[in-house]
Amino acid sequence: MILNHLDIDKIRKQFPVLDQQVYGKPLVYFDNAATTQKPLCVIERERDYYLHENCNIHRGVHYLSQMATEAYENARKTVAQFINARQPQEIVFTRGTTESLNLLATSLGQLLVGEGDKVVVSAMEHHSNMVPWQQMLFRSKGELLVIRMDKNGVLDLNHYEELLKQKPKIVSIAHISNTLGTVNPIKEMIAMAHKYDIPVIIDGAQSMAHQVIDVQDLDCDFYVFSGHKMYAPMGIGGLYGKMEWLEKMPPYQFGGEMVDKVSFEKTTFNKVPFKFEAGTPNVGAALGLETAVKFIQSFDRQEVEAYEDELLRYATEQLSGIEGMRFIGQAPKRNGLISFVIDGIHPYDLGTIIDKMGVAVRTGHHCAEPVMTFFGIPGTVRASFAMYNTKEEIDVFVKAVERAANMLR
Ligand code: ALA
Repeated sequence: MILNHLDIDKIRKQFPVLDQQVYGKPLVYFDNAATTQKPLCVIERERDYYLHENCNIHRGVHYLSQMATEAYENARKTVAQFINARQPQEIVFTRGTTESLNLLATSLGQLLVGEGDKVVVSAMEHHSNMVPWQQMLFRSKGELLVIRMDKNGVLDLNHYEELLKQKPKIVSIAHISNTLGTVNPIKEMIAMAHKYDIPVIIDGAQSMAHQVIDVQDLDCDFYVFSGHKMYAPMGIGGLYGKMEWLEKMPPYQFGGEMVDKVSFEKTTFNKVPFKFEAGTPNVGAALGLETAVKFIQSFDRQEVEAYEDELLRYATEQLSGIEGMRFIGQAPKRNGLISFVIDGIHPYDLGTIIDKMGVAVRTGHHCAEPVMTFFGIPGTVRASFAMYNTKEEIDVFVKAVERAANMLR
């Protein structure tokens, strides 16, 4: 049964983009793992910034610059409180998860990873949490160690323990898989790595909109995320890092704002987090992110989680009746999305046909090619949910999948 204390109709009114027709059919938007839609309050916040407050920050003595600086730093405080960081300075604003992970592979890599050293990732990582490490390790002649998973998309923790015994310098793992929906037991995995004094990075791209994140309770060393997957604008995201790490890490990019004193002979660097924020940041998007956080906080988080779980359960149940249906990712703990293939049908063909019926899903390898190789498939159809989706939309989606499958058989 769908829990309905949440007023979904009222929530949907905040998202005008949902209220449209595509190819003459009402839009069903199930591509939320790629990007969520943005509520009016977020759009208006960014618009207001450009209408009334736009200014470069940390640089001007004049009124607008000071106001914009204060607003940007307040956004940092809001994000820090949202994930229970110890202090706002532990939040570095970036363009998103990808930039945060590249920052870590470069900067933390430079600090910790020497010739021949190892880094651990899991078999279900998005390319963003694999390729930066792989490329860094090519340069350092090191080795990427990959935690195995089983056919259900569950990580093998015994194998993980074996890899930790090889004394890798860094562990970097997804909280929730963007292809399988698996919710990894990150608290346990962080504690396991810490027994060997290995720092842990969590890729939270798929979790921030769906789960309550408490970085102190998790005790992760880093947690990275994208604003655009949590109702905020594109081009903004963040990196939480424990202060003791951020202070030790070298800068990632160089330029204005990240410096302290500069001469042709020598440069000293600004304090954390500014040391990692070279150049003019995306202030408008940061304010949009703050508004998105407040939007999420305006709901009972447990209720949202239960509602989204119910959508996932209902979609799984309804799809399972379709002939040839094979779910990719059947971990007992999943969140937010469902991935599948249908025997004899290419996911791309299925996705293209249901698009014409108004249903937006993602098809392909979802930037996780090794996962597809593991399952021996070219890709999946992925439906991913947000709090504004409904059971009625799932009915439309399931009928569309059934019709498309019949056409393609
Ligand atoms: N990382 C995004 C996804 O999984 C784009 O679709």
